Amino acid sequence: MLSLATLSLRLGVSSCHGSRRSIATVISGIKTSKLVRERLKAEVEAMKNQFSGFRPSLVVLQVGDRDDSNLYISTKLKAAAEIGIEAKHVRLPSSTTQDEVLRSIRSINEDDSVHGLIVQLPLDSVNAIDNELITDTVSPEKDVDGLSCINAGKLSRGDLKHCFIPCTPNGCMELIRQTGVSVAGKHAVVIGRSKIVGAPMHDLLLWSHATVTTCHSKTADLPEQVGRADILVVGAGRAEMVRGEWVKEGAVVIDCGINHIPDATKASGKRVVGDVHYASASQRAGFITPVPGGVGPMTVAMLMENTVQSAQRFLLKNQLRR
Ligand code: GUN
Repeated sequence: MLSLATLSLRLGVSSCHGSRRSIATVISGIKTSKLVRERLKAEVEAMKNQFSGFRPSLVVLQVGDRDDSNLYISTKLKAAAEIGIEAKHVRLPSSTTQDEVLRSIRSINEDDSVHGLIVQLPLDSVNAIDNELITDTVSPEKDVDGLSCINAGKLSRGDLKHCFIPCTPNGCMELIRQTGVSVAGKHAVVIGRSKIVGAPMHDLLLWSHATVTTCHSKTADLPEQVGRADILVVGAGRAEMVRGEWVKEGAVVIDCGINHIPDATKASGKRVVGDVHYASASQRAGFITPVPGGVGPMTVAMLMENTVQSAQRFLLKNQLRR
């Protein structure tokens, strides 16, 4: 029989105990994402054997040269290579016009050897580019970011089996599943309503049968709303804005924030923190994700998952056609 400690380790959750009181169980995105990547690697190997060398393929399209985007893209390319996904980085200069970006996307849409296409955001262009038009030009069948209107619309209607779910919220759901806490019937609070995190997170929790409140910059009493959350997902983009005192005892707290704050003790002069004040929130939460090492690695793993799923759909469609 497995001990509780062994079981927790396998699940990617670990319990920490402070000197005064029991504190939150940490939900590790590093451990959970490793399990996902190992499963995907086995699936890709099976595909390769069954379909004479076939490999899923992903294109990451970048406009410009932002440091943060460069780092995220290199993490995605490395994860793809480890799983056996063929990944290509298409880099366009910041002088690229909207029409040129659109032409590039359309040409990748038409390339049958590509199963997944993402346009890294934000775009770093000297020209005015309509982000909405860009994400909507990606073919819904290759939109492994899940940002096109077709995929977002399906998700908002609860048609989860026929869309691509945006990677960060999909990763959050996986981390919530790891806690063993059932979502159905719970009160979930999402902070932020972005197209990439907050809005799809709301939809996913709703279709997992939670009662969902989405908060934003105009929400009247944020601490009160947070205090009602059995499950709290924060994607606000503001360093440590959620204070531990606001958090309901025993809540599941998922922090999507990645913020750099000054720290004179570090060689770089800065450190990464989330949108939740971790030290105080972990005194009240039942489960909490760390930053770094929580949601971030899951976003990458879910991109890989969507790419493999897209390749599987491609194979299925083309087999049926034959
Ligand atoms: N920039 C930051 N996160 C993401 C993401 O998940 N997808 C894309 N396309 N750009 C991003």
